[in-house]
Amino acid sequence: MKINIITIDGPAGSGKGKIAKYVAKKWKLKHLDSGIFYRRIAYIISKKKINPIDKITIKILINDIDQISSQKNKILRSEKISNIASIIAEYKFVRDFVNTQQKLTVKKSKNKNGFVIDGRDIGSVVFKNANIKLYIDVDVNIRAKRRHKQLIDMGEKSIYPKILKDIKLRDKKDKSRKNSPLVIPRGAYIVDNSSKFSITQNQLNIIIGKYINGKYWN
Ligand code: DC
Repeated sequence: MKINIITIDGPAGSGKGKIAKYVAKKWKLKHLDSGIFYRRIAYIISKKKINPIDKITIKILINDIDQISSQKNKILRSEKISNIASIIAEYKFVRDFVNTQQKLTVKKSKNKNGFVIDGRDIGSVVFKNANIKLYIDVDVNIRAKRRHKQLIDMGEKSIYPKILKDIKLRDKKDKSRKNSPLVIPRGAYIVDNSSKFSITQNQLNIIIGKYINGKYWN
């Protein structure tokens, strides 16, 4: 049976995770946050005190991993892990490994309703044939403010100008990297999520409902 897939791509802090969670709950889909895989690898690298630019050691480490968990954990959200994840996400062998993990997760799943998967290259590379693709965008200053608040709420230290600088740097890395840069996937619905009201749940439900209840979904 064909697995139905909705992809949600967008830059850091665009709120794609929140939208993905909402879509998963509403349409009884399984939510897969692909960034978690990069963050889990970054966490192991940090724990083992490996230099993130030491590709050879990271390659050996990855070769030893069979399966990586997609379980979320607060620790994976720290700035330190975010920065390491952003460096290693540039390596092709890391991306290939993460993509295989995602495909395996989908293949092994018993959930017959399908998946909503969020990330940077899901609709453009990993699941090019997804049924629905969304691309979420938000002004960088708004994203930095949201991230700053999130870190403060998590009890982490946060200096707004530094967060803004880091987000701009991560955007640059995401959009300009050689392997699977962040792009608007072909055929994606572009959603401006800059204000609370830019996409209503109703609009989202109309887009998705048209597929799920109608003739487009198979
Ligand atoms: O979405 P996130 O912030 O949790 O992602 C963590 C890092 O992983 C970020 O630097 C971008 C990278 N990433 C990626 O390159 N491709 C994906 N599909 C998901 C995340």
